[in-house]
Amino acid sequence: MTFAMHSLVFGDNRLSNYCTQSIDCTSQHNLIRDTSFIHDISIMDAVKKERIRKALISLAKAKFESSSGEGVVAPISPTPASAIDIMLPKLNLTPDSRVLELGCGDGRWTLSIAKKFSCNCIGIDIDNDRVEFARLRAKNEGLSDKVDLRNTDIFQYLQHLHAEDFHLMVVYLFRDAMIRISRILKRQGLVDMPSFSSTAVDRGLIQIVCVGFTLPGFAIIWQTQVNGVKIYLYHTMKLS
Ligand SMILES: C[S@@+](CC[C@H](N)C(=O)[O-])C[C@H]1O[C@@H](n2cnc3c(N)ncnc32)[C@H](O)[C@@H]1O
Repeated sequence: MTFAMHSLVFGDNRLSNYCTQSIDCTSQHNLIRDTSFIHDISIMDAVKKERIRKALISLAKAKFESSSGEGVVAPISPTPASAIDIMLPKLNLTPDSRVLELGCGDGRWTLSIAKKFSCNCIGIDIDNDRVEFARLRAKNEGLSDKVDLRNTDIFQYLQHLHAEDFHLMVVYLFRDAMIRISRILKRQGLVDMPSFSSTAVDRGLIQIVCVGFTLPGFAIIWQTQVNGVKIYLYHTMKLS
C-alpha cells in the first residue's frame, strides 16, 4: 500500500522518485503517519497529495544538498528509455546537427540521439563514473566518433557556451539549476522562436528538451508525460 501511495504521489516526477528513495524511513513514516486516506488512494484529496508531495521533495532536497558533492545540482536519476523513444521523433535534427546534453548521466539521451540522427553530440557530467560508463556504452555501440563525453561541471562549460553552436540541448536537473541555465541562455540572447517562423534547423532553431522541470522564462511548445516523467520541448533562437 505504501508503495502504491508513493507511486501515486510521486508519479509525476522521476526526481521525486529519487526523493522517496533517499529520505530515511523515519521521515517517511512521520509524514505518512496519518494514513487513514491510503485505504482508498483513489479518493485521496488532491490538496493533501500536493502537500505531501511538496513536503517529501523539500526533505529530499535538504538531504540531497547535505550529502551531495560540491557543484552537484541534481542526483543521478536516468530518464526512462521509453520517454526518450517518444521524444526522438519530435526533434528536428540532421546529421549536421550538434547536440549538447547538460548532466548526461549514463549518456542515454546523447547516445540515442547520435544513433538516430547520426549527428555529433556532447554530453557533460560532473560524475566521472557516469562519464566512463557512457564512454563504454558509446564504444560498445560504435558511437565513439559521434559522441564527446566530458567529465566537467556544466556551469564551467556554460561560461564558454555559444548557444548558436547547438541545434538541441537536453537538460534534466533540479529547479535551481534550471533557473541558472535559463539566465545564462537569456544572456546569450536566446528567445522563443515565433510560432510563425520556420522551424528548419538552417533558420537557427535551437531546440531545448527539459526533463522533470521547466525552463523558466521560455514558452513550452510541446509537452508530454511518459511513465510518470514530464518532458518539455522548447523552440528558441538567438537574436542576432
Ligand atoms: C537527473 S540526472 C539526468 C541524467 C541524464 N541526463 C538522463 O536524463 O538520464 C542528472 C545528472 O546531472 C549530473 N550533474 C549534477 N550536477 C552537475 C553539474 N554541476 N555538472 C555536470 N553534471 C551534473 C548528475 O551527475 C546526473 O548524472
